[in-house]
Amino acid sequence: MESFKDKQVLVTGGLGFIGSNLCHELVRQGAHVTIVDNMLPRHGGNLFNVKDIEDDLRVNFSDIRNELSMNHLVKGKEYIFHLAGQVNHVDSMKNPIHDLDINCKGTLVLLEALKLNNRDAKVIFAGTRGEYGATVKLPVDEEHPTNPKGIYAVTNLTAEKMILVYDDIYRIKGACLRITNTFGPRHQMAHDEFGVFNWFIRKALDDAEIPVFGDGHILRDFLYVDDLIQCLLMVATCDPAYGEVFNVGTGVGISFRDLAATIVRVVGSGNVGFTEFTVERKEVEPGDYYADISKITEVVGWTPKVPLEEGIKLTADYYRKYRKEYW
Ligand SMILES: NC(=O)c1ccc[n+]([C@@H]2O[C@H](COP(=O)([O-])OP(=O)(O)OC[C@H]3O[C@@H](n4cnc5c(N)ncnc54)[C@H](O)[C@@H]3O)[C@@H](O)[C@H]2O)c1
Repeated sequence: MESFKDKQVLVTGGLGFIGSNLCHELVRQGAHVTIVDNMLPRHGGNLFNVKDIEDDLRVNFSDIRNELSMNHLVKGKEYIFHLAGQVNHVDSMKNPIHDLDINCKGTLVLLEALKLNNRDAKVIFAGTRGEYGATVKLPVDEEHPTNPKGIYAVTNLTAEKMILVYDDIYRIKGACLRITNTFGPRHQMAHDEFGVFNWFIRKALDDAEIPVFGDGHILRDFLYVDDLIQCLLMVATCDPAYGEVFNVGTGVGISFRDLAATIVRVVGSGNVGFTEFTVERKEVEPGDYYADISKITEVVGWTPKVPLEEGIKLTADYYRKYRKEYW
């Protein structure tokens, strides 16, 4: 893969989970990294996520919906990893206008800023497997119908379409990923409203019961964050990836009950319990999902490398060490 040494890179949402892990790798490769993040409470941003690289990048505490900021920040950037978002499925139903504002207006402000100031930049967008909604066949490939369940999934699908329209009409290159549930270090651990895998790890580390909804048979595809970061970088440097949509996952489905049992075994504490779905969760639960990743493997050459158990171990080790920054 091409190196990012001396590349000018903007990471929206760079103080969050995926963004900060990406920034660590970009800094390691010698990129000039700028983060834009608004640090809204409970939205996943954490300054500790970039503490050890804070002298090697710039952080702009602003909002992707702010036109003045974005007009300034996109200038001279070669790559824009667009990771800022409202990510809470339940909140997207309780406060849909807020979700729409960040995920759609924010994306459009970014694209307009590029149209006015820098049409040569390449945009890599982190959309979600939620765009498919309830699945009609497994594994899910990119031709599968999109029937979003919940406003978060609708606004992600809309943002993806906006990026493809700007790619088509203004030739602002955009590559769109539909990412599966991702876990690993630097995710918020304060509440269970998003990032359920990491929440399970927290429960195990606390030697508490892991509350699996329903009978736990629903299948999901869980990806370790280092694999996702490699994927983002490989997509960014792959010209044929622009103008395209790709699934990103492991291609393997595992039930929530097996996942919880695996976490208990690897972490060495906690236990598995079962609880009723809350009404709000049930409303946005799409059922079984695992991805067909043949398109991204063929076009980009990416495949995930980290086995589930190793990912759980690495994640648990991180939070054991830095628990006070996340609990
Ligand atoms: N984590 C996953 O499993 C997953 C799966 C599929 C897609 N995604 C997508 O990837 C992106 C990043 O996810 P994450 O897990 O890192 O989330 P996160 O909540 O950890 O990070 C999001 C970051 O965006 C920032 N942000 C939110 N609104 C902003 C705004 N208006 N202006 C500037 N910054 C803003 C937050 O402060 C936070 O730091 C999101 O768009 C999410 O929908 C994540």
